[in-house]
Amino acid sequence: MSILEDLSELKNTAQVEIAQAASEQDVTELWTKIFGRKNGQLTAILRSVKELPKEERPKVGQAANEVKETIEQSFEKRRGELYQESLQKRLNSEQVDVTLPGRWAEPGRIHLLSSTMRRIKDIFKGLGYSVMQGPEIETDYYNFEALNIPANHPSRDMWDSFFLREGLLMRSQTSSNQIHVMESQEPPVRVICPGKCYRRDAVDATHFWEFHQVEGLLVDEKVTFADLRGTLELFAKAMFGSRRKTRFNPSYFPFTEPSAEVMVDCFVCDGKGCRVCKNSGWIEIMGSGMVHPKVLKGVGYDPERYTGFAFGMGVERIAMLSCNVDDIRLFYEDDLRFLRQF
Ligand code: DAH
Repeated sequence: MSILEDLSELKNTAQVEIAQAASEQDVTELWTKIFGRKNGQLTAILRSVKELPKEERPKVGQAANEVKETIEQSFEKRRGELYQESLQKRLNSEQVDVTLPGRWAEPGRIHLLSSTMRRIKDIFKGLGYSVMQGPEIETDYYNFEALNIPANHPSRDMWDSFFLREGLLMRSQTSSNQIHVMESQEPPVRVICPGKCYRRDAVDATHFWEFHQVEGLLVDEKVTFADLRGTLELFAKAMFGSRRKTRFNPSYFPFTEPSAEVMVDCFVCDGKGCRVCKNSGWIEIMGSGMVHPKVLKGVGYDPERYTGFAFGMGVERIAMLSCNVDDIRLFYEDDLRFLRQF
């Protein structure tokens, strides 16, 4: 066969093969098969041109160049087609459906205990109280002794505590902060102390070993029980609604004398009697009283000159009452079905 025939055969087969190449890889392989420096089909033909008699070379050379160009054009065309095909495939599969609903990121919310705490704080801040926080790990002195609860005194039963080493304990009441505040400043004192407390209580619907209290303390000259009543009545109305009535029941706390439980008329049944108020028509919301002279003396205040009142409330209890929550454990279970309701 002559070289010219070889060339025309190569041109025909190459064009068929290129048109059939199904991928970029096929194309590259074909290219090497035809143009490869070592073994390429066209390369071999071009090499043999040198062996022809001189006068034949230009004609054959020209024909070879034409074949080369034609094949190159076929490659270019096929590459373009393959690119378009794969682009179309991607466009079809990666399509964005703009009619799909967006993905909703639910915003967080404030835990019911935190929002209750904030409401309590805001009410007292409005009355000119400052806010102070004391340590959660206490000494026996601040948690008991300075609050007129001596060692071995039966009233310690009211605060079953977690004891740590070296006389330290997890505070069982925020009342310990009364002592910290009075030790650090002279009267007049007007402060609330919110914080966590711990007790070795058996867990049930109304008890948990960890809970929150807000303590209040006001000390000045000529403070009377009437001031205590006025302040806590105002608080009860601000917290539970302006129609609420309050009542003060005699009670006992070692660090106050006299002591009183603050009651509000039941806001569930309006005082008629129901499950929440245990048919009494009244709900206890906190403990309170006039600061015991011994406590004032202990921090170096003159009980002849200064008097004061104190109160302490459980934040969980206030939240449960105001939002009709019937189990304290719900606050600590992190169940979104519960938390989302508030
Ligand atoms: N600390 C008391 C308790 O944990 C609550 C309390 C009662 C605080 C009377 C007071 C108070 O400041 O005057 O049960």
